[in-house]
Amino acid sequence: MIFPEQLSDFFHKHQAELQSKHPGINLVILTRELLGGPNSFGASNLERVFDDLLLGIPLAYITKCRFFYNSEFWVSPEVLIPSFETEMLVKLASEVVINAGDVTKLRIADIGTGCGAIILALLKELSIGLEGSEKLQKLEIDAVATDISTAALSLAKRNYFFHTYCINPKFKLTFLCGDRFRVFDEETALNLIVSNPPYIMMPADLPGVHPQVNNFFPHTALYLMDEDYWDWYKEFFIGALDSLSAKGVLLMEGHELHLQELSKLALSLGFSSVKILQDLSCRDRFLQAVK
Ligand SMILES: C[S@@+](CC[C@H](N)C(=O)[O-])C[C@H]1O[C@@H](n2cnc3c(N)ncnc32)[C@H](O)[C@@H]1O
Repeated sequence: MIFPEQLSDFFHKHQAELQSKHPGINLVILTRELLGGPNSFGASNLERVFDDLLLGIPLAYITKCRFFYNSEFWVSPEVLIPSFETEMLVKLASEVVINAGDVTKLRIADIGTGCGAIILALLKELSIGLEGSEKLQKLEIDAVATDISTAALSLAKRNYFFHTYCINPKFKLTFLCGDRFRVFDEETALNLIVSNPPYIMMPADLPGVHPQVNNFFPHTALYLMDEDYWDWYKEFFIGALDSLSAKGVLLMEGHELHLQELSKLALSLGFSSVKILQDLSCRDRFLQAVK
């Protein structure tokens, strides 16, 4: 067990270095994550934890878990640590489902699921909502979580295993490995797509990326090469349009500097309406596109 005094001494001794390597860190966060999480750290690994922190290794990769929206999720250096900004995507997605009219069956896909946080938090949110809503009680959901990374999918499956007990049995989740929408066949008629795809232009956006993100997060989760960016999203939007049912909705997170261009691209490719939505710090963060 790490004693709070040891943590406090360590933090105060290295405060400037820790705060430059870990954006937003403070003693409360450090104490909560190391002493309050599901993994406990003993005297034997104390030095290792402190060394890792001084190297700049993200706290969630050290504790191997991160709380996101409504649950704790296992993470590993092979997946992005789900960020609190992305929680709003779950809220927006649950509103799309709740406002979907009198439907009893929905097909939902999470493209680039990583550790599975978005789709699992959504299915859990809708399962909780069941208690108060007659409409949700009748609802069946066929959900699919995809990723190009097999390591990410294994972790997402592990997280699903740990969360199945709080997901309604009428909500089914399957996993597919592959590139964007190539995993779906022509018959696929999704009602809702949620996605937090890689959206940082490499190298154009690199000056705005914190070194911790660049040094420790998996690059496939973050970057698209400058020269491939618009073609990558063109295929992404065409795939989304082909996989959506009539009036189906795509909700995705994107880079604030590129969302305007992306929304024009989505409209030009055939979406009937496209809206840019802001996060809690009023920065452009999400795109909502209706087929
Ligand atoms: C920004 S991360 C998001 C992870 C998770 N959804 C979240 O919000 O924390 C992007 C994810 O997309 C996956 N990915 C990257 N390129 C992909 C592609 N061409 N097709 C499908 N998934 C892809 C990455 O492996 C990564 O898990």
